Amino acid sequence: MKLEKLGDWRRTHTCGELRKGHVGKMVTLMGWVDRRRDHGGLIFVDIRDRYGRSQIVFNPKTNQSVYEKAKELRPEFVIAVRGIVSERPPESLNPKLATGEVELRAGALKILNVSKTPPFQMIADLDVSEELRLKYRYLDLRRPKVQKNILLRHKVAQIVRRYFDEQDFIEIETPYLMKSTPEGARDFLVPSRLHKGKFFALPQSPQTYKQILMVAGYDRYFQIVRCFRDEDLRADRQPEFTQIDVEMSFVQEEAIFLIIEGLMEAVFKAILGESLPRPFLRLSYGDALRRFGVDKPDLRFGMEIQTVTHLLGETEFEVFNSVRAAGGNIAGIAVPDGGKYSRSQLTEFNKYALSFGAKGTLPLKVERGALKGQAAKFLRPEIQSQIIELFQAKEGDLILLIAGLDDVVYRSLGALRLYFGEKLNLIDTSVHKLVWVVDFPLLEFDPDQGRYVAMHHPFTSPKEEDFELMEAEPSKIRARAYDLVLDGNEIAGGSIRIHRKDIQMKMFRLLGISPEEAEKKFGFLLHAFEYGAPPHGGIAFGFDRLVMILAGEKSIREVIPFPKTTSAISLMDGAPAEVDQEQLKELGIRVVETEDSPPGERKK
Ligand code: AMO
Repeated sequence: MKLEKLGDWRRTHTCGELRKGHVGKMVTLMGWVDRRRDHGGLIFVDIRDRYGRSQIVFNPKTNQSVYEKAKELRPEFVIAVRGIVSERPPESLNPKLATGEVELRAGALKILNVSKTPPFQMIADLDVSEELRLKYRYLDLRRPKVQKNILLRHKVAQIVRRYFDEQDFIEIETPYLMKSTPEGARDFLVPSRLHKGKFFALPQSPQTYKQILMVAGYDRYFQIVRCFRDEDLRADRQPEFTQIDVEMSFVQEEAIFLIIEGLMEAVFKAILGESLPRPFLRLSYGDALRRFGVDKPDLRFGMEIQTVTHLLGETEFEVFNSVRAAGGNIAGIAVPDGGKYSRSQLTEFNKYALSFGAKGTLPLKVERGALKGQAAKFLRPEIQSQIIELFQAKEGDLILLIAGLDDVVYRSLGALRLYFGEKLNLIDTSVHKLVWVVDFPLLEFDPDQGRYVAMHHPFTSPKEEDFELMEAEPSKIRARAYDLVLDGNEIAGGSIRIHRKDIQMKMFRLLGISPEEAEKKFGFLLHAFEYGAPPHGGIAFGFDRLVMILAGEKSIREVIPFPKTTSAISLMDGAPAEVDQEQLKELGIRVVETEDSPPGERKK
C-alpha cells in the first residue's frame, strides 16, 4: 500500500515502476531531478528515486504554466509530478532503462524542495576523490551504484537472520558498554560520568558475552553486531565494523563447519545464484603458508609456491648452503612466460620482495629444458630438470627463487604470487573459492613484548592431544581455531573454546597474565566457568567483508553506509571532534598535550 501523501498529492508509483502496461494511466511520482534537457520546444526531465528512473515530458501545449515551471528545475530538486503514462516514440526508446518504453506527460508539477548545485553527479562512473564522496555521503548514497550495495547489504542481513532462525538460533543483543575483551587491537574507551576515573570499553567483539550466554544455556546464539577496534585501517578494516557473531554449545569443529557452510550456501544461492560445492576445502595453516605464503590463500589461481631445499643438496652456492645451515629454506614460484622480463623489470620484482624482508630473488629462466640465470651454474643439469619438473614450468617461464628463514621466504613469495596473479590477470574473478584454514598454532611469540600472545584470542582451546605441551613447548601447541577464507580474504574466524577454569588459568599463565591480573580482567568469565560451563565454540564473520565480495567491491567502505576514512575520520560530520570544557569537567577529564598530538589539536 502506498502511504506517501502530501496534501492532495499522493505518490501512486515509484520512479522505477512504470511499464507499457501503465500506458494511459494517470500517475504521480515523487523524487529527485536527475537531469533536465530542453529540446525542440519540449523539456525532458529524468526523475529518480531508489527504485529507478523515469522520463517526464513537459509540453507547453499540454499545460503552458507547468511547462514554464519546469524551466526552474535543476538537478537534485525534489519534485512531485502528475501526468499520463504514454508510450515513447520509437526513436526515444531506451532499452537500458527498465522504464525506457514509456514516459510521463506532465500535467501538474510541484517543487517540494530546491537544491544547491551538487558537488558531483549522481552517476555510476564518478571521477571524484573518495574524500569528496564521504564528505557529501548523503549525495553519494543517492547514487544508484551505492544504493545497490546498501540494498545488497540489507538482503544478506535478512538471509542471515532467516537462516539462523530456521536453525533454532536466537539473536541476543550484548552490551556495547562493557569491560575490555582483548582481541589483539586497542580498545575505544568511554569515560563514566557517574564513576569518575573509570571507563567502559566498546566491544572489540562480543566474545566473552557469547561464551557467558552458553553458560546461561542459550545453546545456539547469533547476532549481527557492531564491533569496535582502534587499529590501523586498510581497505578491509574499519574502526567500527559489523560481525555475524555465532556461538553453539555441545559442539566440535564439524558442527560449526556444517552450520556455516549451510549459511554460505544459502547466501550464495540467493544473492549470486551460485551453488557452492560442499564440503568446503580445508587447508592446514602450515600448508597454506608453504603453498601460498599466507594464511588467507586466494585459490582462484595456481602459481603455487614450491620448496626446492631438498633438491639442492650440497652446492657450491654459498647462499643456499648458509640458509640450509640456519634451518631455512629455498622456495620459489614459476611465472608463466616470465622469461621475457627485462633486467629492469626483474629489479622491480626484486625490490618488491625486499619490501617483505627477503634478501633478494634469484631469477632463473627456463630455456630449452634448462635453467638460465646467475644461480644456474651452481645447479647440476639433473637438478635443473627436477626443479623445472617440480614447478611444472614451461619453456619461457621464469622461476623466482628466494632463500632465507621460513617466515620471510614464504611471506615474500606469497606477496609475489599475488602481485603476478593480478599483473598477469591470472585470477578468475568469475568464480568464488572458499576454504577453511585449520590447525593454527595456539600462540605466537611477540618479540616486542617478549612473550607469547594468543594467535586467535585467549579463550581458544588447545587441541587436547597437545595439552601436555602446554608447559614444555608452548610454540608447538595447535589451536582448535579455524578461519574461513573467501577469494583471499579472511571473512570469518572462530574456535572451540576453553570451558574449564583450570585450562583457562593455564592459558593465561602462558600469556604471561598473573592469576591476580586474570581475576581482575576476566574474573566474571572465570567465575561463570565455575557454574557448569558446557563445551562450546563459535565463529564470527566480517559482515562488511562478506558483502564487499558479494558486491564485487574492493573496499568495505563501499558497502558501509557511513564509513570512516583510512585515518579514522568521519568527513561528513567531522567526528572525532573536540568537546566542551564543561563536558570534560563533568567526566573529570583534562586533555593534556602529548608528543604525538597533531599540532592543530594541541592545547595551548
Ligand atoms: P576476529 O577478530 O577474527 O574474531 O574477527 C572476526 C572477523 O571480523 C572481521 N574483522 C574486521 N572487519 C572489518 N574491520 C575490522 N577492523 C575487522 N576486524 C576483524 C574479519 C574477521 O575474520 N570473537 C572472535 C570470533 C570468534 O572467535 O568467534 C573475533 O572477533 O573478517
